[in-house]
Amino acid sequence: MIKLHDKCFKPFISAKEIDAAVSKMAKDLANDLGDEIPVFVGVLNGSFMVVSDFVKKYPKPCEVTFIKLASYEGVKSSEDIQRLIGLTQDLTGRTVVILEDIIDTGKTLQEIHRIFKNEGVKQLLIATLFYKPEAYKKDFKLHYVGIEIPNKFIVGYGLDYDGLGRDMPEVYQIKTTQHMTNLVLFGPPGAGKGTQANFLKEKYNLVHISTGDVFRFNIKNKTALGTLAKSFIDKGELVPDQVTIDMLNAEVEKNTDANGFIFDGFPRTNAQALALDKLMESKDSQINAMIALEVEDEVLVQRLLERGKSSGRADDADESIIRNRIKEYYTKTAILKDYFSAQRKYYGVDGFGSVEAITERLCNAIDKL
Ligand code: IMP
Ligand code: MG
Repeated sequence: MIKLHDKCFKPFISAKEIDAAVSKMAKDLANDLGDEIPVFVGVLNGSFMVVSDFVKKYPKPCEVTFIKLASYEGVKSSEDIQRLIGLTQDLTGRTVVILEDIIDTGKTLQEIHRIFKNEGVKQLLIATLFYKPEAYKKDFKLHYVGIEIPNKFIVGYGLDYDGLGRDMPEVYQIKTTQHMTNLVLFGPPGAGKGTQANFLKEKYNLVHISTGDVFRFNIKNKTALGTLAKSFIDKGELVPDQVTIDMLNAEVEKNTDANGFIFDGFPRTNAQALALDKLMESKDSQINAMIALEVEDEVLVQRLLERGKSSGRADDADESIIRNRIKEYYTKTAILKDYFSAQRKYYGVDGFGSVEAITERLCNAIDKL
């Protein structure tokens, strides 16, 4: 991920893919043009990089020149007529190929057609490396298109965002969901995860996704995913990660206006952590932190025994069962602590003290993300 001015961009098209597209355009044009010596016309500023690479790959003699379109000074409306800088050469009777970095609405292309109408060229061909079909509003033919892309803003390989990014050899796409806070909440039994998750979701407008709750909800409501999950559970098998991920995906999609998510009970394995990273990436987002409530074993045991007096949960009543659950938690989560530490995303928070004091510590950690 990279940041230019106020916006974040993610890797989108590699230098290798660009190279292949430029090669193909050069080859197709050379085949179609035969022995004709074309004049390639780059439209500045964006096209400088593609033109440079293109002509190096063009296998036959050619001419290269550049033009630039500029708005008349003082005119700022979007419908303004542009004037041309740089066309000094006589193009009468020549085959002219406009080389564009990107065609978006087609407005620039319309100006180019208007300008070249009176040049007496033999033919005017349009070639563009990138093309956004969903954004294109004109009907001028595009003779050569390198790569079709969705209608999202890109930078790199000549293209800029407010002056920056032109120099990058690969292309990045704008990230549409920014400022998301996605947390993985961890803590041994009795650490107060549920209590704290309730505070955090209110304060930060987050959606609390407890995998256990999602499973129970889907199974109870007999959703397709619930039925699938139940078929494994009934056979005494673990629910495959992909089924859980599909459920989480559905939960994330349901809550598009949330500021982020608190994942609780997932991931539990390295593979699940990787799958969750991939899911968040597909949403233009990421896990920001694993927050683990750290509480001494003796305190946990006391808290759970206390809870057992009123909760009626059998596993809260027996001290040796409690100690086993705590031990199991540390054995199972060590792997995840390593996973998130390696990404510098592990935050241990002291879970000893009053509920308010712990909430404050959690908020301090989150506010610093
Ligand atoms: P059009 O006139 O709408 O086709 O767009 C023309 C110009 O807008 C291009 O030459 C670029 O300078 C700019 N542009 C359009 N889309 C993008 C983009 O995704 N990234 C950077 N510049 C863009
Ligand atoms: Mg351009």
